[in-house]
Amino acid sequence: MGFKSQIEKHYYRTALFEDILKRLKDLDVNLDNVTRKDIASVDEFHVRGAAVSKELAKTINLKKANILDVGCGIGGPCRMLSDEYSCHVTGIDLCEEFIRTATHLSELVGLSHCTKFIYGDATQLPFDENVFDVVWT
Ligand SMILES: C[S@@+](CC[C@H](N)C(=O)[O-])C[C@H]1O[C@@H](n2cnc3c(N)ncnc32)[C@H](O)[C@@H]1O
Repeated sequence: MGFKSQIEKHYYRTALFEDILKRLKDLDVNLDNVTRKDIASVDEFHVRGAAVSKELAKTINLKKANILDVGCGIGGPCRMLSDEYSCHVTGIDLCEEFIRTATHLSELVGLSHCTKFIYGDATQLPFDENVFDVVWT
């Protein structure tokens, strides 16, 4: 099995976005008015969650930067950077279900104009050189 399939197999879950929607409904969240706060408990899946992203963001000048998030998952850090620092963020991830979910979650919380998600491999980035101000991971 190639490393791409191993990574997808490790992370893969079917119908992830639909599962998040169902859980929001179960919590009586109005699906016409979902905020980042409503999805905070699932939005960042790494050690120490959202707190560490906020700490990292404070270490550099990000205001209005054009950012690439490598291994963006379902896009929580992308949404934080676009919402709190007025950045334009492109997330790339090797798991197609995460990219689909990231795209829908940004639509759901009204951040699709400043976040974009691409299914792809960090070791073969499909971008020209010098496109981004910051690479985040
Ligand atoms: C621990 S998760 C973190 C997700 C996200 N950055 C976050 O903070 O919520 C690591 C992510 O890296 C992605 N990944 C691993 N290897 C990759 C590669 N070669 N190219 C793109 N994404 C990759 C995985 O699919 C997974 O979504």
